[in-house]
Amino acid sequence: MRTAVVIGTGLIGTSAALALSARGVAVHLRDADEDAARTAASLGAGTVEPPVTPVDLAIIAVPPALVGRVLAAAQAEGLARHYTDVASVKEGPRQDVVALGCDTVHYIGSHPMAGAERNGPLAARADLFEGRTWVLTPTQDTDTETLNAALELVALCGAVPVVMDAAAHDRAVALVSHTPQVIASLVAARLTDAEESAVRLAGPGIRDTTRIAASDPRMWVDILSANAAVVAGILEELAADLGTAVAGLRELAAADEAKRESGAGVVEDVLRRGNAGRARIPGKHGAPPTRYEVVSVLIGDQPGELARLFADAGRAGINIEDVDIEHSTGQQAGFVRLSVAPRAARSLEDALRANGWSLR
Ligand SMILES: NC(=O)c1ccc[n+]([C@@H]2O[C@H](COP(=O)([O-])OP(=O)(O)OC[C@H]3O[C@@H](n4cnc5c(N)ncnc54)[C@H](O)[C@@H]3O)[C@@H](O)[C@H]2O)c1
Repeated sequence: MRTAVVIGTGLIGTSAALALSARGVAVHLRDADEDAARTAASLGAGTVEPPVTPVDLAIIAVPPALVGRVLAAAQAEGLARHYTDVASVKEGPRQDVVALGCDTVHYIGSHPMAGAERNGPLAARADLFEGRTWVLTPTQDTDTETLNAALELVALCGAVPVVMDAAAHDRAVALVSHTPQVIASLVAARLTDAEESAVRLAGPGIRDTTRIAASDPRMWVDILSANAAVVAGILEELAADLGTAVAGLRELAAADEAKRESGAGVVEDVLRRGNAGRARIPGKHGAPPTRYEVVSVLIGDQPGELARLFADAGRAGINIEDVDIEHSTGQQAGFVRLSVAPRAARSLEDALRANGWSLR
């Protein structure tokens, strides 16, 4: 790829443009808001000068509802040899592209699975897609050269390509991202009217399940509105599961022994299905799901404690696979939870005890 046009120089468009420019591609920037394009250019993402057409690839990075119209206009102008978009949902834009009679041979849908808390060119980073998944949604129409151009874009941005069907993509992001957002918000919302004394009891369980409830509501309305029907469908299935769980809990609260037994079975089944789903979440770097042992170490909340702990683990030759901190209530201390391979847990515990650490 030697030349590219980015249409829509916000967070995603400018980030892609920065990555391509850094790898020697001549990038031309366009935006309905000229200031956005000029800002992107001033960051080193490319030039606002019009290109000699056709360029090798046009990257359409506008809101999902506008992808079809922007693609139709770009193709009518003969802007590029190949076209892609980066919208977070794929089925709606795909339907618009077909309805508007666009050339579907030289267009491929795509979705880089990376983002930031803020929008606009000033939030862009050349390394935004580094190591991230980038979904491509070719169809039977898609030309091999167009797929290759998209694969080259993904490689130049340092991302990892995954090929999927558009509808499967939308259901997948609804399952792993959009629905969890709504559920986390609903769970967290129960706390708004809770007694202060209840909220003060918050431990790691509620913190873990509501972490994403702190997201920007306006940004999420945009995201959800693009995939609303699919998310609503999954939430309906979830509502049915909730009904089952409620019925099981009512039985569990009954005086009748037989009912309590039946309720326990229903609730246990809910929890077991949760275990099974959780066990399917891939491990680090997309590896198969991995079980780690957790070693909990008491540390003081002061400078240098974590460094000392990690250095002791490193000297014992143990790779820390993951880490989180459970902060104590009312004390300047907490437990660092070190996840390690099961065979390394005992040696880590021995090494840390030998260095004076307190373990739980
Ligand atoms: N933000 C994310 O986390 C994220 C992640 C992956 C994919 N996406 C997708 O990337 C696309 C862009 O999102 P963003 O976060 O960069 O948004 P953004 O608001 O930062 O940028 C969008 C840009 O498109 C421009 N624009 C709007 N209509 C236009 C038109 N008709 N012609 C030219 N430019 C136009 C806007 O002026 C704006 O500068 C969206 O389709 C979004 O679904 C976003």
